[in-house]
Amino acid sequence: MDVLIIKGGKRLKGTVEISGAKNAALPLIAASILTSGENTINMVPDLRDVKTMGKLLTNMGAEFHYQAQRAIIDSKRINNFEAPYELVKEMRASVLVLGPMIARFGRAKVSLPGGCAIGARPINLHLMGLEKMGAKIELESGYIIASAKRLNGASLHFDTPTVTGTENLMMAAVLARGTTVIENAAREPEVIDLANALIYMGARIKGAGGSEIEVEGVDELKPIRHTVIPDRVETGTFMAIAGITGGDIIIKGCILGNLNALVIKLKETGLGLEEVEDGVRAIGQARPKAVDIETAPYPGFPTDMQAQFMALMSVAEGTSVITETIFENRFMHVAELMRMGADISFKGSTAAVRGVKKLKGANVMATDLRASASLVVAALRAEGETTIHRIYHLDRGYEKMEEKLNSLGADVRREKR
Ligand code: EPZ
Repeated sequence: MDVLIIKGGKRLKGTVEISGAKNAALPLIAASILTSGENTINMVPDLRDVKTMGKLLTNMGAEFHYQAQRAIIDSKRINNFEAPYELVKEMRASVLVLGPMIARFGRAKVSLPGGCAIGARPINLHLMGLEKMGAKIELESGYIIASAKRLNGASLHFDTPTVTGTENLMMAAVLARGTTVIENAAREPEVIDLANALIYMGARIKGAGGSEIEVEGVDELKPIRHTVIPDRVETGTFMAIAGITGGDIIIKGCILGNLNALVIKLKETGLGLEEVEDGVRAIGQARPKAVDIETAPYPGFPTDMQAQFMALMSVAEGTSVITETIFENRFMHVAELMRMGADISFKGSTAAVRGVKKLKGANVMATDLRASASLVVAALRAEGETTIHRIYHLDRGYEKMEEKLNSLGADVRREKR
């Protein structure tokens, strides 16, 4: 398994180009199932998860081609309505094929995604919504067996905003008979990007980005060309990197408006953030100030930036209190940061991060995608060499990370172990 070896202590400077958003690209690829024809999606990042989603569609009989950040998907000849365990266990977001498959074909057999390192990750709200729209849902040997002659519009309410739940049910509703209203919907920019693509396909959707989305079903959708929005979590990760290395990084191709809650908190740490043409310039100080955060559904502080922010706070002046409200086990990076000399304790969903002057390079283990990003952030500051093991977690969500870091003056190399 690959490791990443990082020699810390350098102030990173230069320009980095943000890739397309993983969490927008995945639902957009799944949405191609809704049309019978060739969809072209640009700015699709070259990630493991994208390859897995491509394998999933190919396994269903679709044609999936990927080259140079462009995915071309033709779902004309889908003839297998199954998302097998072998693929779903690689990537939970595979559950996103459920809604479009039932909407277009009236049937689907999708392996239950199961939990992951950061939590149980149930999909009860996805299934509740599909049942309310008239789908018959059975669970059999770890698979969801779903069927429906044609889905009916329904009034749905989420106890808690779920991103892929909102996306799954929006895709189920676009071909349903009648109107569907989703209350307490997720408001993430990736939900808006998907809604825009569906509208280009001919769907009738109002309110995406707000907490109430209305979908009026149509009979058919047509294939489109679409460009994925930039990855706001990658953007935030490079902001944290500028902060922790005292660097000066121009982050190009990002949409600052998608990160307001994070930007406010990063500015409180002393990070300079100024808009430049087609991006933002992030200027780090010698040492960040301690700032408290609490994650929340969008537009609150993004849970996907909690681990990276904690790495930044591990060298802050003062103590920062970090509360994770979305996932029940998203502090797996704490023990690894402590191996590097961080002084952190946590009880339940709240961590106290007492900033230290120095971090020291060490052998550390990536446990999940954003935890691995947090270890990269910390390693770029740490004295000496850090070896990050199980770096395949990072490869799920960050395109060409070591290339981008080295172009900013970092000393990062990948080794096969
Ligand atoms: C999406 O996951 C993202 N993944 C996650 O990014 C992100 O952390 C998460 O949203 C929250 O922002 C993709 O978009 C592919 P949720 P998702 O459903 O949709 C509970 C990354 O690092 N819930 O919004 O799976 C759930 O337990 C990944 O890129 C239910 O109870 O998250 C959680 O507490 C990690 N029942 C909360 O809702 C359900 O049916 C939010 O989960 C669904 C969710």
